[in-house]
Amino acid sequence: MNTKMKGTIKSIIPIAALALVALALAVVRNELALAQQAPAAPGPQLAEARFKNIQALKGIPADQVIPSMQFIANSLRVECDYCHVRNAMDKDDKEKKKIARKMILMEFAINKDNFDGHTQVTCNTCHRGSAEPVGIPIIAEAEPNPMPGGPPGGPNAGMNPAAVPVGPTADQILDKYIQAVGGADALQKITSRVEKGTLTGFGPGSFPIEIYAKAPNKRLSVMHTPRGESITAFDGQMGWLGNGGQPPREVMGGELENMKLDADFNFAADVKHVFTQFRARPPENVGVRDAYLVFGLRQGRPPVRLYFDEQSGLLVRVVQYVETPLGRNPAQIDFADYRDADGVKVPFRWTLARPMGRFTIQVDQIQQNVAVDDAKFAKPPAPPPPPAGQKPPAP
Ligand code: HEC
Ligand code: HEC
Repeated sequence: MNTKMKGTIKSIIPIAALALVALALAVVRNELALAQQAPAAPGPQLAEARFKNIQALKGIPADQVIPSMQFIANSLRVECDYCHVRNAMDKDDKEKKKIARKMILMEFAINKDNFDGHTQVTCNTCHRGSAEPVGIPIIAEAEPNPMPGGPPGGPNAGMNPAAVPVGPTADQILDKYIQAVGGADALQKITSRVEKGTLTGFGPGSFPIEIYAKAPNKRLSVMHTPRGESITAFDGQMGWLGNGGQPPREVMGGELENMKLDADFNFAADVKHVFTQFRARPPENVGVRDAYLVFGLRQGRPPVRLYFDEQSGLLVRVVQYVETPLGRNPAQIDFADYRDADGVKVPFRWTLARPMGRFTIQVDQIQQNVAVDDAKFAKPPAPPPPPAGQKPPAP
């Protein structure tokens, strides 16, 4: 605070209040002093610095702890409280957590000793959605499918993006896509979109949802639940989540990269610049139709799978991954019910699926090229700090 501001405050605030301001300033100063004493951290904050009882995951960035936990939950198909005591994640009260810690170290050791440190074997390699892996081969009810790599459309299909392409090239598929949604000129004329609809799949019942999107890459969705608003937003730079009255949470790392892609307003026109390389694969079954798979590749990021309807050329599925030290968490969006809106084709329904659940959004109202204020996408400021002497709630 500069002296001019201090002067202004003094002149407008009565003496008693001034004492409080001084106290608050003293607290802020102490915190600043503490922050300055801490050794200069060269990289991102580490897991063991933010969390209380990190042993196996020491040395990973703190932001990767929760995605790693999601990976574990996804692989074993269990909830967090399978291993954790509620509201005390640091406690080792549950035997399962202690086993899991050993398993983390085992995964690291297997990969170090056998796969040059690449994350090849993960929790899911053995667990495959169950807490108890099956060590004995299963006798199938019917004649097993002899196809190497599993059936087409299975989890491993097309896993090797370098395999020989068959059919149209990625360029041809992407060109057909941009034509299918209306062509580059028509796309360019639309600069904002406001959609209203309902979301189903988040527990029983359905909730109203609004989505605001603005070119080139701003996006905000507001879901109205009985417990308050749930917001997912990307302001063009930063991603954040809002939940009821809680302070908004900034999204980091791989999840942020995925949000950025979701927020790309003219994805059909931009896709060729978003990725540096593409690999086309033959059609696979996606839901009720066959779709070409195109891998979108770029430096330092997991590949993105893009599926285009073999007939219409429209984008019907996107699978993105979030890299964690234990393995990749997948998230899949299926687009459907494409309708014409002001000369462009827009999906009126999409389903977001993860290993542990899915929800569907159905749009029933759409408005395009309406004014949407940039401020709408910005993360609101955190609520004021609690009174001095009271500890802030744990994050
Ligand atoms: C299969 C067991 C297992 C499941 C399921 C699991 N965790 Fe963990 N969690 C662990 C282990 C083990 C550690 C300690 C890791 C270490 O020692 O580095 C841990 C640590 C944590 C920590 C750090 C706590 C601290 O302060 O030290 C948080 C936070 C956490 N988990 C959150 C979650 C959340 C959220 C979920 C659900 C999405 C979850 N966990 C699911 C096993 C599990
Ligand atoms: C190489 C195979 C393999 C990998 C990789 C693996 N596990 Fe396991 N895990 C097992 C086997 C086998 C068992 C069952 C042991 C038994 O039956 O007592 C098991 C048991 C467990 C259990 C106890 C389950 C229960 O209900 O008793 C937990 C928790 C667990 N694993 C977590 C993990 C986590 C977390 C990871 C990844 C960090 C992981 N495992 C990776 C093979 C593996």
